[in-house]
Amino acid sequence: MKTIAIIGAGNLGLSIAEGLHQNGYQLHLSRRKLPALAAWAERPNVNVFSANASAVTDAHIVIIAVQPRHLQAVLSEIKEALTADQVVVSTAAGYGLDRLESLLGNQQPLLRAMPNTAISVKASMTTLSANASGQPHIEAVKELFDCVGQTLLIDEEQMQAATVLCASGIAFWLRLIRASTQGGVEMGFESETALKMATQTAFGAAQLLLSSGHHPEAEIDRVTTPKGCTITGLNVMEHQGMSSAFIQGLTASFEKINELKKQ
Ligand SMILES: NC(=O)c1ccc[n+]([C@@H]2O[C@H](COP(=O)([O-])OP(=O)(O)OC[C@H]3O[C@@H](n4cnc5c(N)ncnc54)[C@H](OP(=O)(O)O)[C@@H]3O)[C@@H](O)[C@H]2O)c1
Repeated sequence: MKTIAIIGAGNLGLSIAEGLHQNGYQLHLSRRKLPALAAWAERPNVNVFSANASAVTDAHIVIIAVQPRHLQAVLSEIKEALTADQVVVSTAAGYGLDRLESLLGNQQPLLRAMPNTAISVKASMTTLSANASGQPHIEAVKELFDCVGQTLLIDEEQMQAATVLCASGIAFWLRLIRASTQGGVEMGFESETALKMATQTAFGAAQLLLSSGHHPEAEIDRVTTPKGCTITGLNVMEHQGMSSAFIQGLTASFEKINELKKQ
């Protein structure tokens, strides 16, 4: 049975823990406020720790899910306890592999993982990148994040773009669902009903693409009858700049994240 340490068992750490626990992994969970992990301590195959160095002992893979401002202190704490064959995965946003290497050395297998908040419902789009020593371990780490959604390996230089598309992306899609709900209310539905209808329709659209592998336009063609109401609505949305606004929003967000990285 593989042992996975999760240092920083907060929102993200426990979402990962839930998926891994259901898939039979042995877990070492750590955080400073140990009473918050009391229910986890009762579960089989779970050990909880307040000392990070003890938590990493015997772990095959160490996932670090603390806030970026705590990362350096945590890495200093576990550095001596780590062995060269242990894989360290950081989820800290904006914290590059070069900085991780400068703290743990380039011999340590290191990966960055960028999930999104849908990880709490096992529907994350998680991107991974690895340093040279981490390359042989990519499949093992991918297996972990596949327990809580879909996983893609990307070049580290694309990590900022992936953060915009997938992590910020959650907010962008939620805003579209809200807009659809507002339209539903204007057409006469109660807001709760309109929200349910808009949400399930968005889910259905995504499922259609995921299941069929089709391009969105192929599925749009199936809904748009010539001279019909769907194409009329779509064209008005496009005249108002829907696709363009979305693309401009994404690129503005990308410029911002790159600016923030330089600071
Ligand atoms: N939430 C997401 O969906 C998401 C998505 C992408 C990336 N991320 C990244 O993932 C990281 C965690 O995010 P989060 O939302 O899960 O934050 P969070 O809920 O604040 O969790 C962080 C946890 O770290 C613990 N912690 C702090 N210092 C520690 C230390 N010295 N040793 C051990 N544990 C320590 C905290 O618990 P104590 O105070 O009890 O120690 C806290 O529960 C961040 O770097 C974030 O950028 C999160």
